[in-house]
Amino acid sequence: MGEKRKITLTVNGRRYDEEVEVRLTLADFLRHQLGLTGTHLGCEHGVCGACTILLDGRTARSCLMLAVQAHEHELVTVEGLAPNDHELSPLQEAFRDNHGLQCGFCTPGMLTTLVEFLRDNADPTEQEVRIAISGNLCRCTGYQGIVAAALDAAQRLQGKGPRAPAGHPH
Ligand code: FES
Ligand code: FES
Repeated sequence: MGEKRKITLTVNGRRYDEEVEVRLTLADFLRHQLGLTGTHLGCEHGVCGACTILLDGRTARSCLMLAVQAHEHELVTVEGLAPNDHELSPLQEAFRDNHGLQCGFCTPGMLTTLVEFLRDNADPTEQEVRIAISGNLCRCTGYQGIVAAALDAAQRLQGKGPRAPAGHPH
């Protein structure tokens, strides 16, 4: 048994006091110790973006952090994005409506990445969206639906309602 430390942190608005192995990654802590399996693990070395979470409002790759480094920080995982159990966030709705996911493996990382991006860039261009998600790998969608979802979400978040699909003006 390795050395253990006590950590206190907030995840999705809930406070946790936990004892963790000092070598436990943050991703494994979230998934195995807290049961928040929405955070996915692909490459486990910082390349694919599937494990992206928000740490004090900024994106972080949870596979590259240790759980002890999250001590006294505030985290948001994909489970914390919806306002409640019955509604999706505008970004999640835009993903659903624009076919922004297929298998869904990359989706938690795409969503957390775009939460930060759209907070800082309320009215992005397509090119800016593509750059923003360039560190998140998707093997299914060809990215088209994801980019459309991000642009749609930007409009929804500005209170403009859903964006008309290309060629189908409302
Ligand atoms: S699992 Fe963390 S970046 Fe791929
Ligand atoms: S939807 Fe399958 S990897 Fe992106």
